[in-house]
Amino acid sequence: MSQTPTRADFDHYMVPNYAPQKAVPVRGEGSRLWDQEGREYIDFAGGIAVNGLGHCHPVLVEALTAQANRLWHLSNVYTNEPALKLARSLVERTFADKVYLCSSGGEANEAALKLARRWAHDHHGEHKHRIVSFSQSFHGRTFFTVSVGGQPKYSQGFGPVPGGIVHGQYNDLDSVRNLIDDDTCAVMVEPMQGEGGIIPADPAFLQGLRDLCDAFDALLIFDEVQTGAGRTGSLYAYQQYGVTPDILTSAKSLGGGFPVGAMLTTDRVAPAMAIGTHGSTYGGNPLASAVALAAVEFIDTPEVLEGVKRRHDLFREHLEAINRQHGVFREIRGMGLLIGAEMAPEYEGRAKDILPLALEEGLMALIAGPNVLRMAPSLVIPEADIAEGMARLERAVARLVAGQ
Ligand SMILES: Cc1ncc(COP(=O)(O)O)c(C=O)c1O
Repeated sequence: MSQTPTRADFDHYMVPNYAPQKAVPVRGEGSRLWDQEGREYIDFAGGIAVNGLGHCHPVLVEALTAQANRLWHLSNVYTNEPALKLARSLVERTFADKVYLCSSGGEANEAALKLARRWAHDHHGEHKHRIVSFSQSFHGRTFFTVSVGGQPKYSQGFGPVPGGIVHGQYNDLDSVRNLIDDDTCAVMVEPMQGEGGIIPADPAFLQGLRDLCDAFDALLIFDEVQTGAGRTGSLYAYQQYGVTPDILTSAKSLGGGFPVGAMLTTDRVAPAMAIGTHGSTYGGNPLASAVALAAVEFIDTPEVLEGVKRRHDLFREHLEAINRQHGVFREIRGMGLLIGAEMAPEYEGRAKDILPLALEEGLMALIAGPNVLRMAPSLVIPEADIAEGMARLERAVARLVAGQ
């Protein structure tokens, strides 16, 4: 084997559950990346809405290296200062009274679902265990979260799925009225569906879910793994909607690239997660907590959050200009810096064909399902990088239209 690993090594050594692009990035700075050949890319993908402050942001590098020289890991047999500071910071900035820390979005959702079931079990009895979620939703890849998620392809072929889970239609309150009852322990929803196609919730839909949960004493869970940590222009999207959940999950941009997850809840609900009910060796790890604390403190400022909204407008203007020229999009939508461009009928299902063309032009982007081009860049991406990235996207779209 040669000293420098190559993309071919992936197929040789890794289980085949991913199909990574040909380029192997080796270095990043801000919203730019370089691959093994020294080719440069502008990053509109942000590691799937994770690199909230771009690559190697000095504030996060400083937090990580300072902590790396102090203390790496203890387990939850001991608590630690970074975890306590992170929990306090999240409580002070949100509706929450209590925080559970873990290492990913799927884990945060797994904790949220187990907490909801346990809370309902303790307060109402065994019968109250039903979970309502939504078609096309995505909540992670653990077996519980793929079962609650609304994309059957992720749970099929793995044997019997956990019972007591039903799916309504997103933004359709009547579909929930038909499903919710006294046996429902929780409704889990993304305030904007991410993987499902960048679909913001109607404000009346989220308020209606809140009212239905109150009427049936069910817990409202907001999955803000993708929308959280500043992504939509407020620290969490619920703060813009003015609808408060009982449980909220956060990950992705929370760690800016360091694996971390958090489940936030209230004093009414938290006691159900009593000693021994749940846990994780790495939850509240000092390194992860130190980075997440730095990320939250940096992001939750008017300067950064207003900058997200300003950049949203810029993305929209550029995408509309590309569309005026090429007519490839049916709709441009999203909140903050989670933006989707749905393909026009003539290009149905072809969002994925833009990605390799964009990469050849030096731009990393994403899709959300086959029909939506998705962008989730750094919250502080320089305006010059937006302009240059859009010029590259325009060239990729022109090539799609020309059939190249
Ligand atoms: C809304 C939402 N929830 C949960 C997850 C799962 O997070 P993770 O991949 O960190 O487990 C994702 C990941 O895309 C997500 O978008």
